[in-house]
Amino acid sequence: MRPTQPGWGASLRTPGCIDPMDHVPHSLRSARELIPFGVAMSANRHGRVAAVDRAAGCAYDHKLRRNDLDQSGRRWSAFLVGQLLRRSAQVVETGLTNQIDTRRGPGMASGSYCRIAVTTVTNPHGLACNFDSGSGLLPNSEYWSEIRPEGTPVALLTSQPLLDRFQHVRHALGGPPVIIVPDGEQGKSLHIVTSVYERLAAIRFPRTGIIVGMGGGSITDLAGFVAATWKRGARLVLIPTTLTGQVDAAIGGKNGVNLTDGKNLVGTIYQPERVIADRAVLGSLPEREFRSGLAEIIKCGFVGDPAILDLVDSMPTGGPIGDDLLRELIDRSARVKVELVQQDEHDFGPRRHLNYGHTLGQAVEAATGYREYNHGEAVGIGMLFAASVAAIVHGARELPERTRHYLARVGLPTGLSATVDFERIWSLMGQDKKGGSVGREFVLCLGPGIVRLTSMPDRAVAREAFRFVAGGDREAGRD
Ligand SMILES: NC(=O)c1ccc[n+]([C@@H]2O[C@H](COP(=O)([O-])OP(=O)(O)OC[C@H]3O[C@@H](n4cnc5c(N)ncnc54)[C@H](O)[C@@H]3O)[C@@H](O)[C@H]2O)c1
Ligand SMILES: [Zn+2]
Repeated sequence: MRPTQPGWGASLRTPGCIDPMDHVPHSLRSARELIPFGVAMSANRHGRVAAVDRAAGCAYDHKLRRNDLDQSGRRWSAFLVGQLLRRSAQVVETGLTNQIDTRRGPGMASGSYCRIAVTTVTNPHGLACNFDSGSGLLPNSEYWSEIRPEGTPVALLTSQPLLDRFQHVRHALGGPPVIIVPDGEQGKSLHIVTSVYERLAAIRFPRTGIIVGMGGGSITDLAGFVAATWKRGARLVLIPTTLTGQVDAAIGGKNGVNLTDGKNLVGTIYQPERVIADRAVLGSLPEREFRSGLAEIIKCGFVGDPAILDLVDSMPTGGPIGDDLLRELIDRSARVKVELVQQDEHDFGPRRHLNYGHTLGQAVEAATGYREYNHGEAVGIGMLFAASVAAIVHGARELPERTRHYLARVGLPTGLSATVDFERIWSLMGQDKKGGSVGREFVLCLGPGIVRLTSMPDRAVAREAFRFVAGGDREAGRD
């Protein structure tokens, strides 16, 4: 988007004038009011505003120094530093909601957040997507008032167990209508989508209302699809309650439902205006679900941010992960995804790096009837397979054992059980829908951060790599 308001472009380009907010009324309460400015922005109720215009931002590249902005002490400074100096739309803003809590007195959960704004993406409301990562955000009605000004219609879409568990979200939202859907893959069906539309119709839900999807990836996928299609696009806020949701599923706008012919065959790319990743909800997550999310985090380490792998290495064995470490893992992984989405929102190029480990992983899930391995476990095994291919074809000899090391570090399976047969996996890999029209594609990682989109390995290589993977658990004495 280009600035349409006179003065915007000019102020951004005037040497010495680094405060684009001078030209924006201070009474602005929400990003929606900034749409006429034609700039992707977010504003909070204290008048602290973050703004991004990629083209104008780049014009600042040579004029700003990191220190200038840091000294200003403004909240949007980090946001602009991220935008302008790195020539990347990845943006970070930090805020403290516990400042609000202190004024409010005891009884409110406190929290702080780090905000990563996805700025290249669009939805019909012209909003950038903010990813807020924090702890204790959800019960805070002050935090919500920034997202949902008084009077905005809201519908909360979630499952009954999650509603029971997180009633405080409903309270903080002022008791909106709740649409209950089944959890897991059962909810991702056109039949359920229809029933949700019928509820929305019954409550005369306007397209300017906000659909809040709260749950794991299955519910946020469903909520995204409903919001994208309800009256051709309602507003959407996602509250991922699983680790997988927080680092992967809720970010980037992909949504969808399943058909009997396969998973995620129907869907759109439609950005939420806010993703709220509150670590406080993860405490109740079953350990196996949590580990599944760690597999996606390790994947982000390999495809984008090798520092994640060092963090995985520093994890305590056996005990719980401390909040600081978890925050770092979530924020770094989210940034990897945000950056790839911003480069390639519609998934024709670098975004596909996120499929690392998924070609074999999805085949393993299908071959074992989606029962033996969960998604993260299967993706972990898929990364091991891909690492083995990289070792065989490209001489990346240390990669397979290194991958196995990280998987073992977080308690993920380090190999396949003997029941999984190569022939079956090979044919299932041929059906990978993510291969697109250009034929079967394979994401290869030659070392942390070095990723290539290639074609599938030939059969002999695949068989040898599979043998390595199938040997893993037996060597570890698992079967
Ligand atoms: N859109 C995307 O980019 C994307 C990316 C990855 C995965 N996905 C989709 O996400 C889905 C998988 O998501 P998932 O792994 O989050 O699993 P899920 O949504 O199926 O949830 C797993 C289970 O965890 C429970 N649960 C959720 N939050 C909980 C909490 N805080 N405490 C206790 N229990 C909780 C749920 O009730 C459910 O039973 C798949 O459908 C997949 O296709 C989408
Ligand atoms: Zn995945």
